Amino acid sequence: MPSFYITTAIDYVNGSPHLGHAYEKVLTDVIARYRRLMGDKVHFLTGTDEHGQKVQQSARKKGIAPQQFADEVSAEFKSILPKLLISNDDFIRTTEERHKKVVREVLQSLFDKGDIYLGEYKGYYSTRQEQFLQEKDRNIDGSWPELFGEVTEIIEKNYFFKLKTHQDWLIDFLAKNEDFIFPKYRQKQVLEFLKEPLNDLCISRPKERLEWGIPLPFDAGYVTYVWFDALLNYYSAVVDKPGVWPAAWHVIGKDILVPPHAVYWPIMLHAAQIPLPKGIIAHGWWTQSGSKMSKSTGNALNPLDLVTEFGADAFRFFLIREMNVGQDSDFSRDQFLVRYNSDLANDLGNLINRTLNMANRFSAAQIPAAGPAGEPEKELQALWEKTRLEYIPLFDGFQFHTALERLFIFIKSINAYIEKRAPWKLGKSVESSDQELLRTTLATMAESLRLAGAALQPIMPGTSEKINSVLGFTPSVTWSEQLEWGTKLEGSKVDESLVLFPRPQPAAPKQ
Ligand code: MSP
Repeated sequence: MPSFYITTAIDYVNGSPHLGHAYEKVLTDVIARYRRLMGDKVHFLTGTDEHGQKVQQSARKKGIAPQQFADEVSAEFKSILPKLLISNDDFIRTTEERHKKVVREVLQSLFDKGDIYLGEYKGYYSTRQEQFLQEKDRNIDGSWPELFGEVTEIIEKNYFFKLKTHQDWLIDFLAKNEDFIFPKYRQKQVLEFLKEPLNDLCISRPKERLEWGIPLPFDAGYVTYVWFDALLNYYSAVVDKPGVWPAAWHVIGKDILVPPHAVYWPIMLHAAQIPLPKGIIAHGWWTQSGSKMSKSTGNALNPLDLVTEFGADAFRFFLIREMNVGQDSDFSRDQFLVRYNSDLANDLGNLINRTLNMANRFSAAQIPAAGPAGEPEKELQALWEKTRLEYIPLFDGFQFHTALERLFIFIKSINAYIEKRAPWKLGKSVESSDQELLRTTLATMAESLRLAGAALQPIMPGTSEKINSVLGFTPSVTWSEQLEWGTKLEGSKVDESLVLFPRPQPAAPKQ
């Protein structure tokens, strides 16, 4: 069984989870569920990034220890996962000993090899962003952008990780592994970035300025700083799980691709002689009225509000249908309602209602055997074949929004087929040819609904399960086989009704 390891970024514990964090988990979950259905042995990791200045400051403000602060916020991040139907196998916290131990080991080995050295750091420092700034970060008028908060000039001794000596290796690696980063154009951006000489990476902070971190194993006066700690979570979480590393895929937002994931991380692994992951998937941002949703801009949406109102499956459907992985997407409640009402309540919800209703009315709630297929049946079946053959490659290429678009064209076509056959009319006829056509229609409706439900499984696991259940179907074959048109429902007993997406939804409240 092939191994497939997938991770999300680990979230900073300096704010509550918002829609952007939820999206990343859902996207990663869709990939994880898909790979499981395709027969891989999947390991799915998510977690929280808990060290650093901001956490130390926030805890101080609240008058509690940083560990307590991190415990509270990490628990909040963890608690949203089941509500979003996230099927993660593990949740790592950077304050856990299993993680800190690996960070210390990797630091020590790089120090021993001469890849880490003590140097002098001088520069403008932004406490809010926990980073040293460069001249090019200034506004045109010489001031520092608002986002950096208070900026002060400091000089201090610090440890540096040699990036420069590995720069040519990285360029060569990316040239040889063209599909390392998705979308492809992002890999080109990394190569552009690598045209300029890299500065070595400052990886430490003196203890007197930052206590809340992992002490360097070779100098207790310092703690390691931000990326060196955070990136290693992907490895520390599975180092004792044979066969998991390096079958790894990292799902992250585009803001943390260059340089952390595309430059620091491969070089850290290469220098430490650890095999590299398989690839990185960099998604875009959820924005609101064009600006990135984030805690600091104050436009963060609580994902659980939508889940409570519409259910986890509808929420997941919206995120995946709406976002082209890699590009940004603007969130609006109106757009959510449009998708909910038209795709889910109308197209899918109606199909379920009609299928159950007709089978109950005209076939004693039992799916009959189909007679010979006429033109409409052949057309629908041909459309399914086309959809099925496109669906898997679209999933493999992370084009989930298009896969869903195609699937909903099929779902709409089932409804159009039902209109054409009008089983409510056939049911009233006593002609034996009409009765035969009715049986064919009921069987075709049910089978196509079953197929749509099966295809939805990675994205809407709850809905998919309910569709099987009301159709009296217990899958006993592989997912690929479930996606094949057949006579799997012949003779099965269906439920009376199922309301999955209640309508009508109230219009968006006017502000
Ligand atoms: N702690 C670092 C990641 C370390 S990974 C080794 C971090 N944390 S974060 O909380 O700021 O962001 C976590 C993830 O959420 C990132 O991948 C980030 O891109 C993503 N998102 C945060 N806001 C987002 C949107 N508005 N939209 C989509 N995803 C965004 O960065």
